[in-house]
Amino acid sequence: MTQSITIRRPDDWHLHLRDGDMLRAVLPHSARDFARAIIMPNLVPPVVTGAQAAAYRERIMAALPEGADFTPLMTLYLTEDTDPDDVARAHAEGLIHAVKLYPAGATTNSASGVSNFDKVAPVLDRMAEIGLPLCTHGEVTDSEIDIFDREAVFIDRVLDPIRRAHPNLRVIMEHITTADAADYVRSADSGLAATITTHHLVINRNHILAGGIRPHYYCLPVAKRETHRLALRVAATSGDARFFLGTDSAPHTDGAKLQPCGCAGCFTAPNTLSILAQVFEDDGALDNLEAFTSLNGPAFYGLPPNETRITMRREAPQHPSSIDTPDGPVTVFDPGFDLHWTS
Ligand code: DOR
Ligand code: ZN
Repeated sequence: MTQSITIRRPDDWHLHLRDGDMLRAVLPHSARDFARAIIMPNLVPPVVTGAQAAAYRERIMAALPEGADFTPLMTLYLTEDTDPDDVARAHAEGLIHAVKLYPAGATTNSASGVSNFDKVAPVLDRMAEIGLPLCTHGEVTDSEIDIFDREAVFIDRVLDPIRRAHPNLRVIMEHITTADAADYVRSADSGLAATITTHHLVINRNHILAGGIRPHYYCLPVAKRETHRLALRVAATSGDARFFLGTDSAPHTDGAKLQPCGCAGCFTAPNTLSILAQVFEDDGALDNLEAFTSLNGPAFYGLPPNETRITMRREAPQHPSSIDTPDGPVTVFDPGFDLHWTS
């Protein structure tokens, strides 16, 4: 039985760090295991300009624990007023690595997102020209579309038309939750990839709703039926370079989650690597863990893989079940099975 596994240090290609006290509380958990992360811009107010991204980057660097080796890769939040020149400047400076598309109203702090996709065509044209990727929150927001169908409908109604209109635009479908999305990614030879979260490899919709409602498993896009979870497991563990890790670790205090209308998000930063090693081992794919966590992402983003390595040992990990923040406790995602790998 394999007792240890050494891989290049992982990166997280989709992470919510928040700001202020919450940033200081959660950042050490990501910085411990990950060398770099794509930082989501859905703050209040959102990070929409290069100047705001630079300021946010400074706040993250200031919140890093002494001696931490962690590089935040910044993104801009796409609005209908985004200035293509500002985007191009921030990219040329090496400050931003992607622009994030939130359909207006799709998720946490997405009110400033896009309603009329024609209005962002000039920005997308410029991004295609300069090779700056678009990260998509792939859900339509129309209230008549069932929440479990919103990702598949987004592909047909929004994403495919955008990709046809901007054939050179590089796109990352974020946190995919369906077999439809995995198949759509495979339909393209280049320029299209997807991140997959830790929690979507572990839970299906029954985990959220059967036998009682479990708010800590509620996230967006919401977990789908079991066939979709299994399709994500196949995609993630396959080694296919088009799929890589984006945890979407999204901390909310228990007070904000345990509400009549609770927030969406699973906080997985502390135990993601232990869970992933378990998932890959259970699927007989430990050899492909490094591709998913450490190789495929940098290759798509045009960055070198990390030179440093981490060794994971077969040993029961000691993860907290929740972390304290000045705003209240934040529950750590519970995979619901025993973990045998420590990072
Ligand atoms: O579950 C989620 N939480 N999905 C998102 O898209 C946003 C995130 C958050 O910011 O809390
Ligand atoms: Zn997210």
